[in-house]
Amino acid sequence: MKALILAGRFGTRLRPISCTRPKTLFPIVNKPLLEGIFERLAKNSIKEVIMAVNGLTKFYIKKQRIQEYGLEITYSIDPPKKPLGTAGPIKNVENLIGKSDSFLVLNGDIFADINYKEIIKIHKEKQALGTIALYKVKDPTRYGSVEISDNNQITQFIEKPKKGMAPTNLINAGIYVLDPAVFQYIEKDKAVSMEREVFPILVEQKKLYGYNMQGLWMDIGKPAGYLQANKILLETSNKKIKYKKKNSVIKNPVSIDNDVKIGSKTIIGPFTVIGKNVSVGDGVEIIESVVFPDVEIQDYTKIMGAIIGEGVIIGKNVRINKGCIIGDYAKIRDNLTIHEGAAVCPGKELTENILKSNGIC
Ligand code: GDD
Ligand code: MG
Repeated sequence: MKALILAGRFGTRLRPISCTRPKTLFPIVNKPLLEGIFERLAKNSIKEVIMAVNGLTKFYIKKQRIQEYGLEITYSIDPPKKPLGTAGPIKNVENLIGKSDSFLVLNGDIFADINYKEIIKIHKEKQALGTIALYKVKDPTRYGSVEISDNNQITQFIEKPKKGMAPTNLINAGIYVLDPAVFQYIEKDKAVSMEREVFPILVEQKKLYGYNMQGLWMDIGKPAGYLQANKILLETSNKKIKYKKKNSVIKNPVSIDNDVKIGSKTIIGPFTVIGKNVSVGDGVEIIESVVFPDVEIQDYTKIMGAIIGEGVIIGKNVRINKGCIIGDYAKIRDNLTIHEGAAVCPGKELTENILKSNGIC
């Protein structure tokens, strides 16, 4: 069976870090999301993967040289400047998929600890045209909400229901198995939405089934969700790092990648992820934050609940508060304070305090 990964969009809600990297390459506890998906596919005996992306996403994926776990990976590139929605890229791979076997489709921007073999089994048992992995959430309004019958047939699919309009709290987890017959439902060379146009027809025709997934599922689409996903995985991985050099303290759980330098009297953690080749000065505090690779954090700086992009240089005695996102390669001068929820654009040199939760470009 082949798997198709939809990863065309960069993601607006994670800007400015998603200006320079597609969501599927965001690291979760120091491993790019896509690498984790590849690893899980390989473990479930999937051998061939098709990436439905745009040209720029392919460029970034290639540049990052992530581990491919022996998978055979093919790229299907969207036409330039013409997004195809979620169904258009599926129609585009009709020839690559062939007619003989059903296939897996995965949204590239979610973390899901799922057993693909199970959903494939249910799909075959039900002889469905489509089988969607379902997950229970508190607020279904940001997702595709479904209603299922006792035999797991989906009886309603409403994408992004308005408040109070969701049939249930069960949502489309962004993982589904499709039969090649689905290609007849998608018009070629047009932007088509799987969730708004195709699934509702399959519901009417009683050809769509659901599979209640167990295990962890997380949408990293917003900064708080991204930090939360790192936090939950740190908690569940239960790895303890011992670091007793130079009077510095590591408060587990944390993840510290290779070639990280840490000065003296520095506190790291809890719930902190430090990417490779990061240098941290003396007397620094980093709490509940994610620091991407190649960052320099100078003495007495304090980072609380923030996301720091790749290659950022942060001067001495800087305060970066909760919910801040610092874009790749930005520079922050000494003694500055960045207000809660503020964002600094990639490459920007910040010379003044940010006193409101605005973006600074
Ligand atoms: N190649 C390609 N081209 N991929 C695309 C395009 C496109 O034009 N448009 C969207 N995608 C990819 C995105 O990169 C993402 O991986 C996936 O399709 C879903 O699109 P999103 O834009 O992230 O949709 P969403 O998060 O609002 O909602 C979807 O995911 C939810 C679960 O996270 C829907 O499938 C919901 O029903 C679902 O609950
Ligand atoms: Mg999404």
